[in-house]
Amino acid sequence: MYKQLSDFQSGARTNVIMTSIVKELTDRDMLDVAQYFASSGHVASGDDKSVETEPSIVAHGNPTKNVVSCAVCHGGVDHKAGAPFLQGLSASYLSTQLNAFAVSERHNDSGEQMRNIARNLTETEIKEAAAYYAGLKGRTTGVTWP
Ligand code: HEC
Repeated sequence: MYKQLSDFQSGARTNVIMTSIVKELTDRDMLDVAQYFASSGHVASGDDKSVETEPSIVAHGNPTKNVVSCAVCHGGVDHKAGAPFLQGLSASYLSTQLNAFAVSERHNDSGEQMRNIARNLTETEIKEAAAYYAGLKGRTTGVTWP
């Protein structure tokens, strides 16, 4: 969260609403906010249209296109530092971010980790992954994935 706030402030990530919100925040404010949310153990509600099984792109990726499974970084198998929890985020937010990474409109991912993946996803894979993560209920912060 601290990285995202800093990215909005530096302009590395842009969003009309967030850019103006973070404008006056000090570094201390951003650390405090990040610390607060990281320790609050917020439980994501998830939507009601839960997808029971992991779509193939989430569980296995797509080796023919050099796409690693989402779970490797975002949880489920392991959780990589720096990769945000996705469960419970809205499907429209998730697919918007994936499409933005795919066309490099969002470009604040270190080492182009997400851009390299999103570019190689089909529309269907984006929809399936977004629906899957949106349907998961679970803690998004304050805990590590088992
Ligand atoms: C190699 C590790 C890695 C893999 C594999 C990976 N991601 Fe990511 N993902 C990241 C990182 C790191 C970020 C945070 C980028 C940043 O700093 O803003 C991210 C960010 C995201 C975001 C934006 C989240 C937000 O809160 O704005 C979405 C959505 C996302 N990934 C979806 C996926 C999906 C779907 C897959 C599988 C097709 C996937 N990712 C595979 C590392 C990865």
